[in-house]
Amino acid sequence: MDTINPKKLAHVTSVFPNKVKIEVADLTAFKENIDDALGDLKIGSYLEISDDEGCKLIAIIESYQIELKERIITNEDGNKEKEIYNAYILEASPLGTILNNEFTRGGDALTIPPTEVKPASHSDIKIIYENGFKPDEKFLFSTLSQDENIEVPVNGNKFFNKHFAIVGSSGSGKSHAIAKILQNAVNEKKHNYEGLNNSHIIIFDIHNEYQTAFQNANILNIKNIILPYWMLNSEELEELFLDTEANDHNQRNVFKEAITNNKKYCFKGDLSFKEKINYDTPTQFNFHEVLNYAKNRNNEKKDSKTNTIQWKKHDGNIISFEEQNYPVLFSETLEGQGTATGTLNGKLINFINRLESKINDKRLDFLLGEKSQNISFEDAIKQFIGYKTRLSNVTIIDLSGVPFEVLSITVSLISKLLFDYGYFYKKYLDDGADLETPLLLVYEEAHKYVPKDNSAKFRSSRKAIERIAKEGRKYGVTLGIVSQRPSEISETIFSQCNNFIAMRLTNPNDQNYVKKLLPDTLGNLIENLPSLQSGEALLLGESIIMPSLVKIDKCDPDKQPSSNDVNYLEIWKDEWKNVEFDKIIQEWEK
Ligand SMILES: Nc1ncnc2c1ncn2[C@@H]1O[C@H](COP(=O)(O)OP(=O)(O)OP(=O)(O)O)[C@@H](O)[C@H]1O
Ligand SMILES: [Mg+2]
Repeated sequence: MDTINPKKLAHVTSVFPNKVKIEVADLTAFKENIDDALGDLKIGSYLEISDDEGCKLIAIIESYQIELKERIITNEDGNKEKEIYNAYILEASPLGTILNNEFTRGGDALTIPPTEVKPASHSDIKIIYENGFKPDEKFLFSTLSQDENIEVPVNGNKFFNKHFAIVGSSGSGKSHAIAKILQNAVNEKKHNYEGLNNSHIIIFDIHNEYQTAFQNANILNIKNIILPYWMLNSEELEELFLDTEANDHNQRNVFKEAITNNKKYCFKGDLSFKEKINYDTPTQFNFHEVLNYAKNRNNEKKDSKTNTIQWKKHDGNIISFEEQNYPVLFSETLEGQGTATGTLNGKLINFINRLESKINDKRLDFLLGEKSQNISFEDAIKQFIGYKTRLSNVTIIDLSGVPFEVLSITVSLISKLLFDYGYFYKKYLDDGADLETPLLLVYEEAHKYVPKDNSAKFRSSRKAIERIAKEGRKYGVTLGIVSQRPSEISETIFSQCNNFIAMRLTNPNDQNYVKKLLPDTLGNLIENLPSLQSGEALLLGESIIMPSLVKIDKCDPDKQPSSNDVNYLEIWKDEWKNVEFDKIIQEWEK
């Protein structure tokens, strides 16, 4: 049975390196015992634990329990008696210590025994955030949830220099958070110069919701984007054009042969490079010629005496299957010539149909059309980092119209291009200097194209983004991963993220997943995630002075992403509306 001085409002009952247990005898008095307390005491609030040396340990409340306990008190008559009381047990995780107004992360400076514990004061917490970083490193987009007068900065260099993730259930405020963070980044300027700063942000916008938030952005969609299909690697080309499940070797061999040789045929530069061109080399080639080649192979006939494959040209001349005749096989539709059918005769029909329907599919013009064949690497890059039509800090890639079957390779192609840009830029600098135009790639609904499971459908986008996750930082290419379903995202991606904005998260699988990512000591804070309000988040990681429960600043009303909740009841209360179906259908058919 404890013997406690009832006048002492709270005392520390145990101190571990990663946990402090506090028993509070009178919670109301405990909360009111300091003059400049922060807002309400709740999970995520800070406590201040002091020692005799003037050192204060700041700890964040992780859990809260009530225990019925007995204690001996001295009653009014001076006699000792037993009393049953509610003991409030707070478990808190030490974050760091304040000594001489300076905050240091880590909790081992406190001398034992601690002498006092109380809710952290407004002034102390303010000092921590204010003095945490040098003024030119501070980057702001949130305030402390407990007290909105306290701004919570992150170290902007550390925040953008490493990958970050924003996770939260639908409606928790992820899109608004991204919009606010990027709007602030675009507005940061070293001096008061006119014009754009040097930020380069690419948003993969799957629902077309960011245009309203970035009115000066470059908007790319399937009507104006040009993707160089010739930069697809062999795996991606096969994913797109071959029926991989049929596992047909003939198809694969002809496809490989046609593309490799057509790349050589189209290449007009250095001979020694030409000889090295292979299936994967990113140089231009012509899909119509590849198709023609396949059609000719499907027509091939054999001279049974000499056993040579032959065709008849339009001018009546006979040609055989030799390297020097590739140009004809690419450019003319020939007739098989011989007494017997060739090995591939009639075997490529499905493949040809597939190839033909893809090449002629108007919806895929942005990827397989003439412009895609001719676009240079330079122009392809420029369109994504704001140097093409008009200069712009933010490029929004509106993926909403991209046909599902090419979504993965579209994302992968753009990601690879941007990674290559960083890689070659660094190589060009040659002296180990950093890229002068560091890029941030933001993936909305990232679980869609970097899924955890090894599904073939998203293999290419997953590979491309995982590569950036692992190596991008060295080349000034970082990721912003946004997802409602963190547990469904590739672990490689998450394990490389250094900063997390965890918003309301209701699914237990997702909560557990995020919990695993946190240091053991902070795991319990995750219990808090289901009850967060829209716009509230747990800010964790290297760029923040200490883990903090924050409220993300709201976007200006006229610069919000167009993802706001629909006011159903308000709209339903209106009178019946006539719908202009024809105009909607026109949109569909555009
Ligand atoms: N910082 C904020 N403060 C107040 N309200 C906010 C804040 N952020 C978002 N909200 C509100 O929450 C709602 C949902 O926000 P948002 O669209 O950003 O959520 P989301 O997490 O991106 O959802 P989804 O996963 O469905 O895309 C909006 O109506 C918005 O007004
Ligand atoms: Mg959203």
